[in-house]
Amino acid sequence: MKQVYLQTFGCQMNVADTDRMELLLFHSGYRRTPRQEEADLILVNTCSIREKAEHKIMSLLGSFKPLKKTNPDLMLGLTGCLAQQEGDRLVKKFPWLDFVLGPDTVERIATAIDRVKTRSRPLVWTEFDTEKDYSIPALDGPRAPGPSAFVNIIKGCDKFCSFCIVPLTRGREKSREAEEIYAEARQLVSRGAREIILLGQNVNAYGKRDLRRPTAFHELLYGVAAIPGVERLRFTTSHPRDFTPPTVRAYRDLGVLANHLHLPVQCGGDRVLQAMRRGYTVAEYLRLVDDLKSAVPDIALSTDIIVGFPGETDAEFRETLRLMERVGYASSYAFAYSPRPGTPAQDLPDTVPDAVKKERLQAVLELQKRLTAQNAGKYVGGEVRVLIEGRGGRGDADFKGRNEHYWMVHVGAAADTLKPGDFVTVEVQEAAGHVLKGVANCENRQAGVGRSQSIPNS
Ligand code: SAH
Ligand code: SF4
Ligand code: F3S
Repeated sequence: MKQVYLQTFGCQMNVADTDRMELLLFHSGYRRTPRQEEADLILVNTCSIREKAEHKIMSLLGSFKPLKKTNPDLMLGLTGCLAQQEGDRLVKKFPWLDFVLGPDTVERIATAIDRVKTRSRPLVWTEFDTEKDYSIPALDGPRAPGPSAFVNIIKGCDKFCSFCIVPLTRGREKSREAEEIYAEARQLVSRGAREIILLGQNVNAYGKRDLRRPTAFHELLYGVAAIPGVERLRFTTSHPRDFTPPTVRAYRDLGVLANHLHLPVQCGGDRVLQAMRRGYTVAEYLRLVDDLKSAVPDIALSTDIIVGFPGETDAEFRETLRLMERVGYASSYAFAYSPRPGTPAQDLPDTVPDAVKKERLQAVLELQKRLTAQNAGKYVGGEVRVLIEGRGGRGDADFKGRNEHYWMVHVGAAADTLKPGDFVTVEVQEAAGHVLKGVANCENRQAGVGRSQSIPNS
């Protein structure tokens, strides 16, 4: 078999796309290697969400030149969002690239490689998929899925937030038929997955208009939750504007739906939200948060925040801090605004100096540190139920996994008492940042059985 080295930048969609390419390449005779120097094919799945992400990839591409010199048969390919956005320019700047594929051409990776072999010039495939249906044919793979597995439910994004490149790199929204999603979830749990994470840039837009058998997002949640063997269910990412009351109710009804929600707010002031074209006001966002909290009092919320959007004043920035405090996020991802080519915000004067962006970012990070510590306090001295993902963790922790609120938990346990895919009750002793640390209560271990089943004592 030939060997492929895969490297992924960006979000979970890219991680899922890389996994899919690995699978497709396996059926074309490639096996994944962790060692670049023994690869016959190097694939870099790229991100262009912020300028920094782009710079990182550019310098990596530069470093590939000598590799190609020592092994002229090595094939080098670029996929993902930066590839989509800059395809033609990239092959000019880095002539040692053999091909460039956009995120919508993942399914054609094997064909692309065959074509490249007979060409003298690099191949650039960045056209968007024009098929009516969004379908991902089932394929058996060389290895079992992990305990937690992604399932794509919708691709693209039609929201066109004024700062965001994603609608330009991933194209229009298209949902996958529910039956195909159920079939994939069933296959994953039959091969060992215990948790399913439904994936899309805006999962709440699922099924809005393009399905043969119309299914609303909340109906999909009930459908996946009913699959035997799905013991935990999550979804990401949500857009507040498309979040419906029946989806709020699903949290209350569905025991397997983890009480955690990533609900990006971006900022805490109405004028900036409007300039960002987010489509909701602060009051509307907070109403949704309150509805969620009254349906699910222990729900853990996380968010994304952009500081320094063009025109953001100090007073407006302080509104963001106030909103964070009001919601009490368990965690947040904060970014300094970065102008992106082709987006509407790029034409706005970038008025906030870098130094001010930095200060604001720092203030968000510090506040979040305090909020995270407050949230962590709720766990210390108590017990959490953890899905073990693997060995490791920091310090003397032997295993790691996540609780239903998506906190990373480092679990001390005797060797060989746990394995990936086990659910275990952990007595939490301390917290460090967004990591809880504790010891396994192996009396309560559930190996290979559903939550509703009990382990016989005899
Ligand atoms: N689909 C998701 C987010 C996708 S991008 C959603 O709508 O919430 C992930 C995050 O990157 C965004 O939530 C936003 O906070 C950040 N981001 C996107 N474009 C950015 C830009 N131009 N500058 C800085 N941060 C950006
Ligand atoms: Fe980007 Fe907005 Fe779409 Fe999220 S919803 S991917 S931020 S355009
Ligand atoms: Fe990056 Fe594309 Fe995801 S720009 S964040 S890899 S959708």
